[in-house]
Amino acid sequence: MTVTAVRGALLSFADDPFLVGAEASRHYWPDGGMVIEEGRITSIGDWRDVSATLPAGAQITDYSGHLILPGFIDAHVHYAQMEVIAAFGTQLLEWLEKYTFPAEQKFSDPAHARLIAELFLGQLLENGVTTAGVFCTSSPVSVDQFFAAADGLGLRMIAGKVLMDRNAPASLRDTAQGGYDESKALIDRWHGKGRLLYGITPRFAITSTEEQLELAGALAREAPDTFIQSHVSENRAEIETVRRLFPQHRSYTEVYAHYGLLRERAVYAHGVWLDEEELRQFHEAGAIIAHCPTSNTFIGSGLLDLNAVQKAGRPVKLAIGTDVGGGTSFSIFKTLGESYKVMQLQGHVLSALRAFYLATLGGARALGLEADIGSLDAGSEADFCVIDPGATPLMKFRMEQCESVEDQLFVLMTLGDERNVVATWAGGRCLHQRPAAA
Ligand code: GUN
Ligand code: ZN
Repeated sequence: MTVTAVRGALLSFADDPFLVGAEASRHYWPDGGMVIEEGRITSIGDWRDVSATLPAGAQITDYSGHLILPGFIDAHVHYAQMEVIAAFGTQLLEWLEKYTFPAEQKFSDPAHARLIAELFLGQLLENGVTTAGVFCTSSPVSVDQFFAAADGLGLRMIAGKVLMDRNAPASLRDTAQGGYDESKALIDRWHGKGRLLYGITPRFAITSTEEQLELAGALAREAPDTFIQSHVSENRAEIETVRRLFPQHRSYTEVYAHYGLLRERAVYAHGVWLDEEELRQFHEAGAIIAHCPTSNTFIGSGLLDLNAVQKAGRPVKLAIGTDVGGGTSFSIFKTLGESYKVMQLQGHVLSALRAFYLATLGGARALGLEADIGSLDAGSEADFCVIDPGATPLMKFRMEQCESVEDQLFVLMTLGDERNVVATWAGGRCLHQRPAAA
């Protein structure tokens, strides 16, 4: 059995800095080491101590001078929307019609789906992302191709077939029963295979009939350890449309709750306009909000207040999403930087530790996956990224002014991007290596 050891500055979270304060929230080893066996981290500590325990023949990778973080978690992203990233001039409902639905129609072709799935996974790895909550399209082909590509890399991924039986082009619509049957078959085929997990994926309330939501809820009860992923309360016109389509329900959240779709492991993107009662419903159900700041600003949806989401007394589980192609970047640094600006515009600050917690252990805990991912604790799957804080002359210069790892993280989330990601490992294997500078 090969024993692998990795050396570098190691940072991992123990708890939520928003709740326990900076000091208690993190573990930091400026010259640290991790031992990896059979895809999992088996020990972590100061390099001096860790290196003394290594057997002869251990393979050592030395990342001294770089910062090693747990692999990032992107809790909400659409792999079939790679080609509509940076689409000009529209807000949600028109953006879906004009750009997104046409792009998604191509994914019943397995060759196209596989090509884009591989490109997409390459983008995640380039950005240090090792787990994502991924929307495929309404075609089961898109799901098979995505999972096959992710399985080939040994990644822990959540994905699912979009359920959509109204208010969409005919070629993308399924039926309530057909969508249920296809999802069930996909769960049987993929959920729990390797590191893959299935997400039952009703697109949003506007594109599903009551019958489809009913069957999605039935499926969620029949397979309680699957995820659910959807969108909620993103855009004003969207919310008005939901009100018209579901006049019998008090709120957008109540529509999902009514059909049994608000539970633990249910991830809803956006939640920008949720009211106090809806946030309370999220809290009580243990459902999750995926905050997607670059999408919320780019398609003009609104500003989410993370402090309101995490209000003491009824905190709602929170994770970070890029929401590409509504979002404008696969970079978690850029996404966290946008979140900082969104909070500033509302008169709040977002600390770097809180931001990076949300993209690692916080996201893992929200998803109920913290036993496997989100930290560098012994026992965790060996998913991590290696960060070069001084990847450009400006960043190198700016980092010289930093007095702590927290300062460095803040500069990274303000100036950083994929140029800072030296390597990304998943399951104990290095899957991405930044190309050497020309
Ligand atoms: N709401 C329903 N579908 C979508 C989508 O594809 N992207 C975003 N941002 N919101 C949605
Ligand atoms: Zn989305």
